[in-house]
Amino acid sequence: MTKLPTLLAIESSCDDTSAAIIKGGKVLSNIVANQEVHKEWGGVVPELASRAHQQHIVPVVAQALKKAGITKEDLDAVAFTLGPGLIGSLMVGTSFAKGLSLGLKIPMITVNHMQAHVLAHFIEDPKPSFPFLCLTVSGGHTQIVRVASPMDMQVVGETLDDAAGEAFDKTAKIMGLPYPGGPLIDKYAKEGNSKAYKFPQPKAKGGFNFSFSGLKTSILYFLQREMAENEHFIEENLNDICASVQYTIVTILLKQLEKAAKHFRITEIAIAGGVSANSELRRRFEELGKQKGWNTYIPQFQYCTDNAAMIAMTAHYQYLEGDFAEQSVVPKARFGI
Ligand code: KG4
Ligand code: ZN
Repeated sequence: MTKLPTLLAIESSCDDTSAAIIKGGKVLSNIVANQEVHKEWGGVVPELASRAHQQHIVPVVAQALKKAGITKEDLDAVAFTLGPGLIGSLMVGTSFAKGLSLGLKIPMITVNHMQAHVLAHFIEDPKPSFPFLCLTVSGGHTQIVRVASPMDMQVVGETLDDAAGEAFDKTAKIMGLPYPGGPLIDKYAKEGNSKAYKFPQPKAKGGFNFSFSGLKTSILYFLQREMAENEHFIEENLNDICASVQYTIVTILLKQLEKAAKHFRITEIAIAGGVSANSELRRRFEELGKQKGWNTYIPQFQYCTDNAAMIAMTAHYQYLEGDFAEQSVVPKARFGI
């Protein structure tokens, strides 16, 4: 087999349908189709997500091939997200990849979505050197990962309840903002005072773990109290509430990351996942890095939220190791790295 494979990667774990082409470790295309259908429901509706994946997957793959300037006959393997994620959504990518693998007689590579978020750092320069720590913050997960090599990583801390993205989205929902609320909180916070309101910073049991459900509850009670006095409280103070909520979530995240970096004596530190698109997290992470003497790594914006380029990058390493899957493989809603 060639040492510089051309791979198609498919990502369909949640509500974004994405396909990417990678050739010799270089990403040639990365197409993402978002699903607008969930907005009015205040969160991802699994059944609607899988139906939308079915509609998007063929054109998204066709576009990825076209943009890369190749045809499906040029592919050496097809990779896809096996999990973790919504089972119905994962089924769409899995079935499509199986069909393509059979039709083209090429092998399949199954990728772990959380491992891929971490390896998004290897799509572009500068790349972290090993070992490094990665704070992976998404809509479903919040983890601190110790990365010894692309294929050798260990979760050293994680959330015991809500993920950081959920803390953003659920707070936004309480304030009447549409799903996903994270980017909107980021937007309104830019005009607000982060010290306007003080919220608790719940501590989780265990060294580098997180807990966000208590924060969500205290924000709910706070808003209910204020709204009882002034029914326009949220709309009149939206920017300040968003800035204060965002400040609290980012502080909780960075405190644990700092603790882990000190414990493991690692100064190569990265952030990844959808919430790493947050401007306050990016800014304060770099500020903290300068203060601590870390080398800090943040993926390009397009590689923070769900995308197939990160699946392709991970598949590239797996291909070089000969790590292929059987046709009998089934998606995994829960899938540890
Ligand atoms: O990694 P991702 O795209 O999907 C999952 O694997 O979950 O992460 C999505 C999460 C959502 O909770 C979304 O609100 C959050 O990332 N997010 C943000 C921002 N952009 C995306 N949260 C805060 N600020 C942002 N700018
Ligand atoms: Zn993700």
